[in-house]
Amino acid sequence: MKLWGGRFSGKSASGAEAFGAAIGFDHRLWPYDVMGSAAHTRMLARCGIVPIADARAILAGLSEVASELATNQLDFAPHWEDIHTRIEARLTELVGAPAGRLHTARSRNDQIALDVRLLCREAILDQLDGLIHLMRALLELGARGGDALIPGYTHLQRAQPVLFSHHVHAYVEMLERDAGRLLDCYRRTDVMPLGSGALAGVPYPIDRDLTARLLGFSSITRNSIDAVSDRDFVVELVSALALIATHLSRLAEELVLWSTAEFGFITLDEAYTTGSSMMPQKRNPDLAELVRGKTGRVMGHLVALLALLKALPLAYDKDLQEDKEALFDAVDTVAACVGITTEMIRSLRINRERASQAAAGEFSLATDYADYLTRKGIPFRDAHQIVGQLVQLCERSGRELHELTLDELTMASPLFERDAVGITAEGAIAARDVPGGTAPSRVQAASRAAEARLGDLDGAVQRLREAFPSLDRLLSEPL
Ligand code: ARG
Repeated sequence: MKLWGGRFSGKSASGAEAFGAAIGFDHRLWPYDVMGSAAHTRMLARCGIVPIADARAILAGLSEVASELATNQLDFAPHWEDIHTRIEARLTELVGAPAGRLHTARSRNDQIALDVRLLCREAILDQLDGLIHLMRALLELGARGGDALIPGYTHLQRAQPVLFSHHVHAYVEMLERDAGRLLDCYRRTDVMPLGSGALAGVPYPIDRDLTARLLGFSSITRNSIDAVSDRDFVVELVSALALIATHLSRLAEELVLWSTAEFGFITLDEAYTTGSSMMPQKRNPDLAELVRGKTGRVMGHLVALLALLKALPLAYDKDLQEDKEALFDAVDTVAACVGITTEMIRSLRINRERASQAAAGEFSLATDYADYLTRKGIPFRDAHQIVGQLVQLCERSGRELHELTLDELTMASPLFERDAVGITAEGAIAARDVPGGTAPSRVQAASRAAEARLGDLDGAVQRLREAFPSLDRLLSEPL
């Protein structure tokens, strides 16, 4: 017998049940579903809509269902349709008639909107915790780099030397913006939809604010139609996740490149590499490659969700059931990528000599020679031209700029003096002493400032988490 079986005389078509079922994946929502039901039951009892004795029976039954679910004792066969139905059916078996009152003033439409919001709220904070760990690992990596240099690149051609730590801090900046996006979408997720019913609201004297308080929400939805049909909080979360994955893919790509014989700037810990079944010498950065590769999946989920919502008529449509697998997989994939990236960052070795040597090579100090002339008063464009010719001279004679003699320099421009011979990468880096620049003092200050901001972010996340209800208390506190 279906929940909705009253007006049906026959059975579902064969195949229809399996095709329509969500329980194969939405069973993951069970803790949130039970939590929502417990809060709803308490509110109904407090408002005199359901007798206290029945509410107590429902809460006791939900406790039992929750412990059965926690110990994998309930099956999720397709005929159960979805997790809401499964839980209500088991509750009915356990407590009988009172269970029939649980769905008063509620529809599965506002119920699923609630469950997904509860899951997203927690997922956002979990992702923030993961990002904070990763950002701290990156700051530590920068600190381990000390005064190590690497070539900064544009077009993947050596451009100008930078501190290794400055390069690593660029990723902290990206991830910090990602954290900001997550926090921002948290505000719009933290809104309680129960009381919207199927779409129009419910004809009972319910107290939506009480339900919201019990579940630790900051506010309630303002329009019942929007409340059951809105999934843009899911799109926002997955969009933030897609961008995190995209940032991780850039970092992963650099780990792959940097650990090649060609670059050789870092060595990944053996524990995060694998061998080849054929070539005995190989040590492959598979995990970094997988982080790069999994990004495609997360991006795909974002596009799937946008396409799902496009042109969908108000209010609830079953299409919305398709949001879950995309959401769950995006959340799991990004959490896994952030976790493994953190471990790789913590365990990798920096090959300081090799990186610092590369930083000074391939004419990466050419801009500094041009800047030298510009500081002596000639327009930068002219200086650029002159140094370009010096680079040609070096190329012809197989040398670097710092190997040119003073005679050769003054031949190109009389403005060159003794101090222009042997401009060093260290000097070039120290000279970039502007806010946001790679001079050591600036980079150290940036690192300290980032650590302080991470401390604040951590505090903010833990405060938000404190608002979460405890499932145990919602089920067992006296009514
Ligand atoms: N399994 C459904 C979903 O994921 C739950 C809501 C079903 N509502 C309904 N009227 N069929 O969206």
